[in-house]
Amino acid sequence: ANSKIPITPGTYENIEALAKHCNSCNRCPLGQTRTHAVVGRGNLRAEIMIIGEAPGKNEDETGLPFVGRSGQLLEKILASVELSTETDIYIANICKCRPPENRVPTSEEAAACKPYLLEQIRLVDPKIILLTGATSVKGLTGDKRPITKIRGEWLEWEGRLCMPIFHPSYLLRNPSKEKGSPKWLMWQDIQKVRDKFD
Ligand code: URA
Repeated sequence: ANSKIPITPGTYENIEALAKHCNSCNRCPLGQTRTHAVVGRGNLRAEIMIIGEAPGKNEDETGLPFVGRSGQLLEKILASVELSTETDIYIANICKCRPPENRVPTSEEAAACKPYLLEQIRLVDPKIILLTGATSVKGLTGDKRPITKIRGEWLEWEGRLCMPIFHPSYLLRNPSKEKGSPKWLMWQDIQKVRDKFD
């Protein structure tokens, strides 16, 4: 399970098998310091998938993505347009293991973990993918543009609709809700997603 045998489309029959593999993975150094691999949560048949960056402390402890402060804010934003991670959404991350001190994962770490993400996308088969923050956009699509330039834009990746949005942790650092503020822009973006989903 810890080998670097290629993971190709169809390697995993389901998310459980993938998760089992992630929990014994050592394809990158993050495997040595994790408590739990954080694979995903939400509806495995969801039409919307949200992809974050990497687990933080709470996520590493629980094995579930977006359960800390960022996650609480994300749930609130989704609830404001009547979307819920229990019914409408599946959430995952670019990296399944927590980087020390919550640093940004390196491109090597993101690349090592990408086959898992690609299998997750194949298995969940979402219509819409929301990418939170530049690391997530770069990790999936390779697009290196700053998030402020591309958030709210519909992009196409491998035949799927994707939208870069701000990372909730960025919104926690920028609490203003004034017109034009990051929170205000996020609200515009999430409404566009809601409209597409309806
Ligand atoms: N931030 C992320 O990007 N992912 C998580 O799972 C938690 C916080």
